Amino acid sequence: MRIAIIGAGCSGIAALKQLTRTGEHEVVCFEQNDRIGGNWVFTTDVGHSSVCETTHIISSKRLSQYSDFPMPEEYPDYPSHDQILAYFESYVEYFGLMQHIRLHTKVEKAIPAEGGRWKLYVAGSDEAQDYDLLLVANGHHSVPRHARIFGQFTGEYLHSHSYKQNLPFKGKRVLVIGGGNSACDCAVECSRVAKSVTISMRRPHYIVPKFMMGKPTDTFNDTLRYVPEVLADVIRRKSLALQIGTYEDYGLQSPEFPLTKDHPTVNSELLYMLRHGKVTARPGIELVENLSVSFTDGTTEEFDVIIGATGYKIATPFFDPDLLDYTEADRIPLYLRMFHPEIKNLIFIGLVQPQGAVWPLSEAQGKLVASYVDGAWKLPANLKLLAEAEADRIAKEFLPGKRHTVEVHFKPYLDQLLKEIKKAV
Ligand SMILES: Cc1cc2nc3c(=O)[nH]c(=O)nc-3n(C[C@H](O)[C@H](O)[C@H](O)COP(=O)(O)OP(=O)(O)OC[C@H]3O[C@@H](n4cnc5c(N)ncnc54)[C@H](O)[C@@H]3O)c2cc1C
Ligand SMILES: NC(=O)c1ccc[n+]([C@@H]2O[C@H](COP(=O)([O-])OP(=O)(O)OC[C@H]3O[C@@H](n4cnc5c(N)ncnc54)[C@H](OP(=O)(O)O)[C@@H]3O)[C@@H](O)[C@H]2O)c1
Repeated sequence: MRIAIIGAGCSGIAALKQLTRTGEHEVVCFEQNDRIGGNWVFTTDVGHSSVCETTHIISSKRLSQYSDFPMPEEYPDYPSHDQILAYFESYVEYFGLMQHIRLHTKVEKAIPAEGGRWKLYVAGSDEAQDYDLLLVANGHHSVPRHARIFGQFTGEYLHSHSYKQNLPFKGKRVLVIGGGNSACDCAVECSRVAKSVTISMRRPHYIVPKFMMGKPTDTFNDTLRYVPEVLADVIRRKSLALQIGTYEDYGLQSPEFPLTKDHPTVNSELLYMLRHGKVTARPGIELVENLSVSFTDGTTEEFDVIIGATGYKIATPFFDPDLLDYTEADRIPLYLRMFHPEIKNLIFIGLVQPQGAVWPLSEAQGKLVASYVDGAWKLPANLKLLAEAEADRIAKEFLPGKRHTVEVHFKPYLDQLLKEIKKAV
C-alpha cells in the first residue's frame, strides 16, 4: 500500500512508526514545518504551535510516554515544552523515522479519487500524488475559536494561540476569558508582570492542582481505576476539597457535576495567585463597551487587553468542505474516534482530547491501523451505526459544547483500542 500521513506531530510520528515496522508499505509523512513535533515546537512567532514560553505538560511523565520509549529518568514529573519536543525528536531518531518524513511539505488538497484512492497536492506543485490510504494527524489545537463578544472592545484583543510570553503585558490591566488550561496558564503568567489580571469563566470549572496527596494528579487518579465510578467520583471530590478547600474561597464558582464530565483544568498556580490577589475571578461577561467590561455578577472593570482563551477549531482545510468539515460540528461520528463512517481509507490519528496524554493513544491508534492495513483486523459491517452511537455516548458522558466533541476518558479508551488490537489475527 501507499500510505500518506498528514502531520509529523506526536500523533503522526507514532502512526508512522507502526506503519513502517514491517517495511511492506510505502509510507510518506508530510510535515509543513521545518521540523517534527507540531504543537511542541515553541517559537515567538505565531504559527501552528500553541505552546507558550513557560508551558509544561499537565499529564505527568510516566503516564505520558510511548509504550516502548520511556522518558529520560532525569525529566521532572511535568516536563517543559522543550523537553517534550526533545523526547519526540529522540523517538524519531531512535526508530529511524526521518527517512519517511517530508519536511517543508504542506498538503494543500486531499481529494478522493477513482478506485478508492486519494490524490494529494502539496504546496508549490500541481502534480497529484496517489495514495491508497490517508491518515490525518494534523492536530486540533492550532486554529483559534474566537468568542463573539468583542465587537465593542477598543483595547487590544488576542487569542491564547498568539500568547507567547508575558512581557508585552507588563503594567497592563488584563482580562482572560475561559476556564481551560490555556486561560489559567495565561492568567498565571500575566499576573507576574501585569498591573492586574482578571479571569472570566462563564460557568464553573474544576481547577485541579498538579499534585494530590504528594503524587502527580493523574497518577493519584490512576490509583482509583478499579474503584466503581460513583465511588471514585466521591473520593476525587473529597480529596480535592481536603487539598484546596472550597472554590468559593478563591472567588470561583463551585461545580456540581462529576469531575470527569469536563476536560480537566490542571493548574496549582492559578489557585495560589487567586489567594494572593494577583488574579481575580469573575463569572461570564454581560457587556463590553470601549475599555469597560461588565460581568454577570454586576461588577464592571476597565481593561487594556483581552486574551480570549476560548479554545480551538477542528480544521481540515485540505478537504473540500462538502466532503468533510468539523469546524462547527457539535458531534463527530467516527468509529473508535478514528475511522470515517463512509470513507474506508480515511483515518484520523490523535483526533481525541483525553483526560490524560494524547500520544500514548495515538500510538495505540497507529498499532490498530497497522493491523488494518495488514488485513489482520477488519472494520465492522455496521461501521456507520457504531460511529453514530459513539458520538451519542460522548454527548452523554461529557458536558455539552464544542470543547467536548472529541473528549475521551484516557484509560477506558486505551483499553478499548488494546482490545481491538488483540482481535487481530
Ligand atoms: C498549550 C497546549 C498545551 C498542551 N499540553 C498538553 C499536555 O500536557 N498533554 C497532552 O497530552 N496534550 C497537550 N496538548 C494537546 C496537544 O495538541 C497534543 O499534545 C499534541 O500536540 C497533539 O499532537 P498531534 O500530532 O495530534 O498534533 P500537532 O502537535 O498539532 O501536530 C500536527 C502536525 O501536523 C502538521 N500539519 C498540519 N497541517 C498540515 C498540512 N496541511 N500539511 C503538512 N503538515 C501539516 C503541523 O505542522 C504539525 O507538525 C496541549 C495543547 C496546547 C495548545
Ligand atoms: N499546560 C498545558 O499542558 C496546557 C495549556 C493549555 C492548553 N492545554 C490543552 O490544550 C487544549 C485546549 O485548551 P484551551 O484551554 O485552549 O481550550 P478549551 O479546553 O477548549 O477551553 C476553552 C475555554 O473557553 C471557554 N469558552 C469557549 N467559548 C467561550 C465564549 N464564547 N465565552 C466565554 N467562554 C468561552 C470554555 O468554556 P465552555 O466549556 O463553557 O465552552 C473553556 O473554559 C486542551 O486539551 C488543554 O488541556 C494544555
